[in-house]
Amino acid sequence: MKVTFTNKTMGEIDAQFEVIFVVDKNLEHEFIADAETMARFEYKGEGNLLLLESRRLYVGIGKLSLEALRIGICKAYNALKGLNVANFKVATYLAGDEISTFMAYAEGAGLGSYEFDRYKSDKKPALLTEILVAKDEFSKKTVSAKKANLGLEYGAIMAECANFAKDIVNEIPEIYTPERMASDAQALAKSDKQIKCEIFDEKYLAKEKMNAFLAVNRASAHPPRLIHLSYKPKDAKRRIVFVGKGLTYDSGGLSLKPGDSMLTMKSDKSGATAAMAIIKGASALNLPFEIHAVMGATENMIGGNAYKPDDVLISRSGVTIEVRNTDAEGRLVLADCLSWAQELKPDLMIDMATLTGACVVGLGEYTSAIMGNSDELKNRFKALAKESGELFTPLDFNDHLRELVKSQIADVSNTASSRYGGALTAGIFLDKFVKDEYKDKWLHLDIAGPAYVQKAWGYNQYGASGAPVRACLYFLRALAKEM
Ligand code: BES
Ligand code: ZN
Ligand code: ZN
Repeated sequence: MKVTFTNKTMGEIDAQFEVIFVVDKNLEHEFIADAETMARFEYKGEGNLLLLESRRLYVGIGKLSLEALRIGICKAYNALKGLNVANFKVATYLAGDEISTFMAYAEGAGLGSYEFDRYKSDKKPALLTEILVAKDEFSKKTVSAKKANLGLEYGAIMAECANFAKDIVNEIPEIYTPERMASDAQALAKSDKQIKCEIFDEKYLAKEKMNAFLAVNRASAHPPRLIHLSYKPKDAKRRIVFVGKGLTYDSGGLSLKPGDSMLTMKSDKSGATAAMAIIKGASALNLPFEIHAVMGATENMIGGNAYKPDDVLISRSGVTIEVRNTDAEGRLVLADCLSWAQELKPDLMIDMATLTGACVVGLGEYTSAIMGNSDELKNRFKALAKESGELFTPLDFNDHLRELVKSQIADVSNTASSRYGGALTAGIFLDKFVKDEYKDKWLHLDIAGPAYVQKAWGYNQYGASGAPVRACLYFLRALAKEM
């Protein structure tokens, strides 16, 4: 999907369709040429009004915001993609500075037009491939073409990285094994001189005593992989490490998931996939930080050699873990990956995981949780990621919840003794593997809700959403600006 800033007025642009955003249900604005028709159809400025004869589409976007623009562009795309239309024009609606505004246009177009049709026999290439943005301005300010083009460039990178993640998460578990994730990481490094990749196999994991990670893998026909990607620009200002849960399939293990809950568990690799996509984006955006992705890739399967409820695992850090439920496997993989990642001496370490169903119950499908020991860092992440439109809620650990992950026979249990507060007790479990010096430099993002979309919302289709790739890239961009 190509988005172009034209430096022409709406009238000057020769396009096959015209899209007008109705802001705040305001039908009085000069951009609205069909007030009479609207009255006839009782259109009140909400939803779409498609006028085929005059080749105009009105899209009610509510209050003007960056997120409203992303969704508005996506709605326009969806309304016109089935018609015999190759392009449409739309005015500039400044919802922030020029760069942010045009990023939103490009993201709405790139994210909204994404399709996972690899397994469809009847693929229809989209005819609608171009959006022309006019310099006409809703609020009558002058738009800088230079900034508009920069915004379009950044926005295209954001969408491309999120879509890169969607393609991986949507890929089926038969194809997408830990080895495949490793080869994709290698291919990414090969395609980009600024990115380096190291792959570690099961022998290395055994040498490193990553027994919690290995236990999860044991009943799988596919060997595990620890994947390390890095992007190291000259004069990097800080070292930031992303750690990702990469369960290419989570059957639950011997504590087997019921059939309905197992469905969609190809998406349990979303955290690791996001880490890979963030490295791709960091390089494309030339961010001034040294950034690492540490990805723990394995399946969680059943079999005669499966790890069992009742087992005790000695993790890489030496902390012993009582296994009470093999479906709480993500925290086991992350325990060893977090331990490994701290050897990189991060200034900031962020893990990302589709970790708990409890997080989805608590926050809903649209919001990820931010956990950690530093309220300041949690709030900063939320504030600096906000412009991405992705939703986050900080959750707070407390000492009562800490009691719940105690074990009678080991240092910690992989499941809490209460079924309440499951997102937080999983975060508290991870905290046991964060050394004192990194306690306040660590964030845990539980992305179990937004990572995979069961019913389309916003600019997200059914399937993977690419969360939290853009949120993290926005966070990093904002952090860079602060310095
Ligand atoms: N991968 C799941 C969490 C999940 C659930 C992600 C739904 C996305 C949607 C995770 O490994 C899991 O199964 N967690 C258990 C933990 C429990 C056994 C303590 C859960 O949430 O039920
Ligand atoms: Zn699980
Ligand atoms: Zn899982």
